[in-house]
Amino acid sequence: MKIQFRLNTTLEQCEAPANELLVSVLRRKFGLLSMKKSCMPGICSSCTVLLNQQPVPSCMIPVFSAAGADIITLEYFSTTRDYEKIMKAFKQQGITLCGFCTPGTVFTAYALLKSGKILSDRQIRDAYAGNACRCIDINGITTVLKKLSLMRRQRCG
Ligand code: FES
Ligand code: FES
Repeated sequence: MKIQFRLNTTLEQCEAPANELLVSVLRRKFGLLSMKKSCMPGICSSCTVLLNQQPVPSCMIPVFSAAGADIITLEYFSTTRDYEKIMKAFKQQGITLCGFCTPGTVFTAYALLKSGKILSDRQIRDAYAGNACRCIDINGITTVLKKLSLMRRQRCG
């Protein structure tokens, strides 16, 4: 099957079996290795990408369902100002990521902040419920994201 999508802001096309998982296609065809093939039933978040701006586990997405979508991987996202801000705030809070499930941790933070809401503990805990990261302490992440959401809200009036 021929599939077209926008990948890291560039229109791309590839041939792949329709039911091949997106994580495999991104690694095999495009050499994008930030997504790991780890648990593979969608529980560790190490394979997360942004699909139409929403964090999703790419090990759960057959590539045919990503046709026409906008996909962002950590390779591209790590060049953005949003990434820089999130990582700076993590560092200030003493949060260091080993890299294993950085895509899930960072894209979840990005999606929460992008909502423009002042985040509650509950919203943050719920969003990270599917993230099995051993590097993060949920209290630290909650502190960082509440602070960033408040700052963002104040800036936007
Ligand atoms: S490999 Fe996809 S969630 Fe673990
Ligand atoms: S970044 Fe998740 S286990 Fe280290």
